[in-house]
Amino acid sequence: MNHFLDIHKTDAAQLRGMIDAAHAMKAARKGRPKGAPDDDQPLKGHMVALIFEKPSTRTRVSFDVGVRQLGGETMVLSGKEMQLGHGETIADTARVLSRYVDLIMIRTFEEATLLEMAEHATVPVINGLTNRTHPCQIMADVMTYEEHRGPIAGKKVVWCGDGNNVAASFLHAAGQFGFDFTFTGPETLDPEDKFIQFAREKGSKVTIQRDPFTAVEGADLVVTDTWVSMHDPESAKERRHNQLRPYQVNEQLMSRAKSDALFMHCLPAHRNDEATSAVMDGPHSVIFDEAENRLHAQKAVMRWCLGG
Ligand code: CP
Ligand code: NVA
Repeated sequence: MNHFLDIHKTDAAQLRGMIDAAHAMKAARKGRPKGAPDDDQPLKGHMVALIFEKPSTRTRVSFDVGVRQLGGETMVLSGKEMQLGHGETIADTARVLSRYVDLIMIRTFEEATLLEMAEHATVPVINGLTNRTHPCQIMADVMTYEEHRGPIAGKKVVWCGDGNNVAASFLHAAGQFGFDFTFTGPETLDPEDKFIQFAREKGSKVTIQRDPFTAVEGADLVVTDTWVSMHDPESAKERRHNQLRPYQVNEQLMSRAKSDALFMHCLPAHRNDEATSAVMDGPHSVIFDEAENRLHAQKAVMRWCLGG
């Protein structure tokens, strides 16, 4: 059994295998209703717990539908309604859930919660987002880039705005899939040094460029995310908006990227803050393919976790 905790903790060849499997599974389902099962049923008889300590639309629905397509069953649990939210330890929760279910996906605040869950669970644990990383999202993003433009290796990815959890997993992916990563945003919101170091040690070129127009020159992919994440305090909202406004992805900024550059956003978006609707709905945007590919990429992740 394998945990899927982060992109930098997973072998690069195995990550590649998951992306290839995701493409194949997507192709095999073409034209089928969403609820129709896949031909093989690798999760038949398997029960999957989906735990949410934060809101979710994509992660929740894509995991739920993905498990069912693979022949398994799910139970969606809100952290607040579990004893976990009322003082039971994470370790005990992990031990107990492992007696009932075959796989656990958790979306939580602290990375330590995820790691403790994985340490004490005897079934695979998948990271469905923490304050620090969001690996399932970036598996879908790599899949989406390659579906439209071929191999991502050697390409220039430019992240605009907050160096948050999604940016962190992009940096891990830069190292593992071999692409270059430019961050453009205010200094106080730079990605953690540890994430940058990982990508650099793996040979990827990581650049910090404060001027967004210079940053996106020659970009193959431009990415942004919300200016205020779920774990950020509401009190930081105004300051962040003021700091991040110059990094909005609009048509003027996109015009500096390569003419065939793609635009991504993991969603949910605050339209006309971090990106304009003209860009989100424009010719470069693949945001809804990204959302769809969460389903296919996570099915590949779950199969890998269970040894398939
Ligand atoms: N992108 C993403 O993880 O979306 P949700 O918060 O809706 O799950
Ligand atoms: N950075 C965002 C991503 C949401 C999917 C957050 O953590 O809220």
